[in-house]
Amino acid sequence: MATASLLSAVARRLEGKVALVTGGASGIGECTARLFSKHGAKVVIADIQDELGHSVCQHLTNSSSSSCYVHCDITNENHMQNAVNTAVSKYGKLDIMLNNAGIMGAWAPSIVDNEKSAFEQVISVNLVGTFVGTKQAAKVMIPTRSGTIISIASVCGNIGGMASHAYTCSKHGVIGLMRNAAVELGTYGIRVNCVSPYATPTPMSRTFLNLDDEEEISSTLYSNLKGTLLQPQDIAHAALYLASDDSKYVSGLNLVVDGGFSIHNSGFCPLHQSY
Ligand SMILES: NC(=O)c1ccc[n+]([C@@H]2O[C@H](COP(=O)([O-])OP(=O)(O)OC[C@H]3O[C@@H](n4cnc5c(N)ncnc54)[C@H](O)[C@@H]3O)[C@@H](O)[C@H]2O)c1
Repeated sequence: MATASLLSAVARRLEGKVALVTGGASGIGECTARLFSKHGAKVVIADIQDELGHSVCQHLTNSSSSSCYVHCDITNENHMQNAVNTAVSKYGKLDIMLNNAGIMGAWAPSIVDNEKSAFEQVISVNLVGTFVGTKQAAKVMIPTRSGTIISIASVCGNIGGMASHAYTCSKHGVIGLMRNAAVELGTYGIRVNCVSPYATPTPMSRTFLNLDDEEEISSTLYSNLKGTLLQPQDIAHAALYLASDDSKYVSGLNLVVDGGFSIHNSGFCPLHQSY
């Protein structure tokens, strides 16, 4: 292989692959859809924000690889099945499923003020939606005995006190689902993993934290790693690793992208006194 084409094969890590990205119209999903496309994947974007979703697709198709948009509420199993079937009918297969769509839900200061319906809504989108996405992707991946399923969880899936009860439970659940599915689907050669981001500047975190400035989002939340800021691109690159053959023997992993935040207790850290 000539040096130039060898370099381009290395550079385009998803050449020939087909990916479905839920919540791909905005934030982390949009950024990951763009990166997957840049690396040669054909990308189906599934979201409920139709105008934004179409415009992201238009951009991908013009700049890198073929792409299409499907209206899909991930809590609706028929919608999700339709999104998966669109990938298969339009591009012949589904190699990569990115369960990214999620919501923060309303913040209740105490569990006693937390409406059951509000709790259920977050669980329905974040956990049940991820279950439905994993299930529908598995249906088409099992016969081909290949594929990779990635779900976007959160640091809130490992620790408490960072978000609402519903959000925290939903993300703990997403990690549990990933582990169970990795055990079952590994027998068919399908890899299942999570990426767990720390606070990342997107429309979701800006609204939740009521902050606009990226630096403020990172510093307000006591990020541990200094000298750099977490960006949606960092999450997209973690997803790219799990989507590509670079991680061909990695399954059942919760890849935490938090600069060491969740292994550090800022309230008790004698090490800090010497720095
Ligand atoms: N931004 C952060 O700080 C952060 C941190 C940890 C984890 N996450 C997770 O990352 C994922 C992406 O979040 P983001 O920050 O990019 O948020 P975002 O609000 O920018 O994007 C979320 C996307 O999901 C879509 N969506 C919401 N409900 C949907 C539904 N029922 N069906 C289909 N699409 C739906 C929205 O329309 C939107 O396009 C979420 O799962 C979130 O929980 C985000």
